[in-house]
Amino acid sequence: MPAQQTWPASAMFDGAPRRSQPRAHPVQATTCRHSMSHLFQPLQIGPLTLANRITVAPMCQYSASEGTPGDWHMIHLGQLAISGAGMLIIEATAVEAEGRITAADLGLYSDANEAGLARVLDAARAHSPIKLAIQLGHAGRKASSRAPWEGGKQVPVGEPGGWPSWSASPVPHAPGEQPPLALDAAGLRRVRDAFAAAARRAARLGLDGIELHGAHGYLLHQFLSPLANQRTDEYGGSLENRMRFPIEVFDAVRAVFPADRPVWMRISATDWVPGGWDIEGTLALSHALKARGCAAIHVTTGGVSPLQAIQLGPLYQVPYAQRVKAEVGLPTIAVGLITEPEQAEAIIAGGEADAVSLARAMLYDPRWPWHAAAKLGAQVRVPPQYWRSQPREFKDLFEGATFGAR
Ligand SMILES: Cc1cc2nc3c(=O)[nH]c(=O)nc-3n(C[C@H](O)[C@H](O)[C@H](O)COP(=O)(O)O)c2cc1C
Repeated sequence: MPAQQTWPASAMFDGAPRRSQPRAHPVQATTCRHSMSHLFQPLQIGPLTLANRITVAPMCQYSASEGTPGDWHMIHLGQLAISGAGMLIIEATAVEAEGRITAADLGLYSDANEAGLARVLDAARAHSPIKLAIQLGHAGRKASSRAPWEGGKQVPVGEPGGWPSWSASPVPHAPGEQPPLALDAAGLRRVRDAFAAAARRAARLGLDGIELHGAHGYLLHQFLSPLANQRTDEYGGSLENRMRFPIEVFDAVRAVFPADRPVWMRISATDWVPGGWDIEGTLALSHALKARGCAAIHVTTGGVSPLQAIQLGPLYQVPYAQRVKAEVGLPTIAVGLITEPEQAEAIIAGGEADAVSLARAMLYDPRWPWHAAAKLGAQVRVPPQYWRSQPREFKDLFEGATFGAR
C-alpha cells in the first residue's frame, strides 16, 4: 500500500531547487487563538516573526563529515523541526575548517557543506513551519578537540583530528595545552571573510536568521575576554579594542545577509572568573551591536576558562538576560536550566526575557513545546500525521486538527 499522505500536498517536498528560498508554508505560524499564555504569543526578532517564544538552542552534534551533515542531521533536526517550537537554531557551524571544535563539526565553508545542509533544510521545511536559523562560529583556541563522548580533550597537532588553532593571543585554553597562533592582520581578514562567505551561503540556503557565536569561550569570546586576549594592538587592551573584532565580524555578516532577515549574537554575560569578561562588557557590546542593526541578544555565560566558578541552578542565567533586556532593549533570549513550562511562562510574563531557549530539555523531550502548550492551555502546530495523538483531555491542543475515517 502506498504511504498515505495526510499533510497538505503543497507542503511536501516538491523537488524544487535545493537552494530555493523558504516557501510560504501552508500552515503559517499564527497567533494562539485561545490561550492567554505569554510563552505562546508570537515574537518579532527584527523582521522575523516567530509563532511562539520557545526556541531550540544550538547544539553541536559532532556528526558531520568534513563539515557536511548527513543522515544523523536529518533525524536530529527533523525531529526538532516538528517540536512545535517557534525557532530552531542549528548548531555551532564553522566558517572555516580550522574553526571546527572537532573534526566532525558542522561547517558552512564548502559547496559540499552547503549542498548537504540544503537537503536537510528542504526536508525540515516540507514538514514544518518552524523558523530555521543557524549559529555561525569559529572555535579559535578551542578547535582541534575530541568529541565530548571521546573525552573532549585537545587533539595534539599531527594526530588524526588535530590541527594548529588560532586565537587573539598565543594563550592556551588550559594549562599544558598546545598554545594557539595569534591572528595577524591577514588572519583577521581571512576569518572575517570566512564569516561573510558562510553568511552568503546561509542566505542562499534560505535560512531565516543568523546567530553569531560570541560565547562559550570560542573565537569571538576569546577577543572579548581579557583572560584570553592579551594583544597590545587595536584589538586588545581596552574594552573598545576587545570588542572591535567581534563587531567587525558582525558588520561583515550583516552586510551580506539579506536586510529582511535578522542577524544577532549569542554572548556569555560573564566568565565566572574575577578579572574576566562581565555583564558590564556585555551591556556595552549589546548597545554597540544594537546601533549596528543587531536584532537580538541570546544571553548565556561561561566557557572561556577552566577556572570558571559557575553558580549553577534552575534559571541561573536568566538575571543576565533580564539586565540586557532592561538596559539595552533588544529582544532577548534567555537560556540555561529552563526545564518547566511554568518557569518559561513566568520568564516571559514577568518581562525577564522575550524568548527562552532550551537545549538538554529538548533533547530529552523533543515534544516539550507540545507538553508546554497542554499545560499552559495554548495551542501548537503539529504535523497532521500526528494529529490523532492529541490526548482526550486536550481537545483543542493541536491547531486545526481534524480527523475522520470511513
Ligand atoms: C549537546 C549540546 C550541544 C551544545 N552545542 C552548543 C552549540 O553548538 N552552540 C552553543 O552556543 N551552545 C551549545 N550548547 C549549549 C546550549 O545551547 C545551552 O546554552 C546550554 O546547554 C544550557 O541550556 P540547557 O540548560 O537548556 O541545556 C550545547 C549544549 C548541549 C547539551
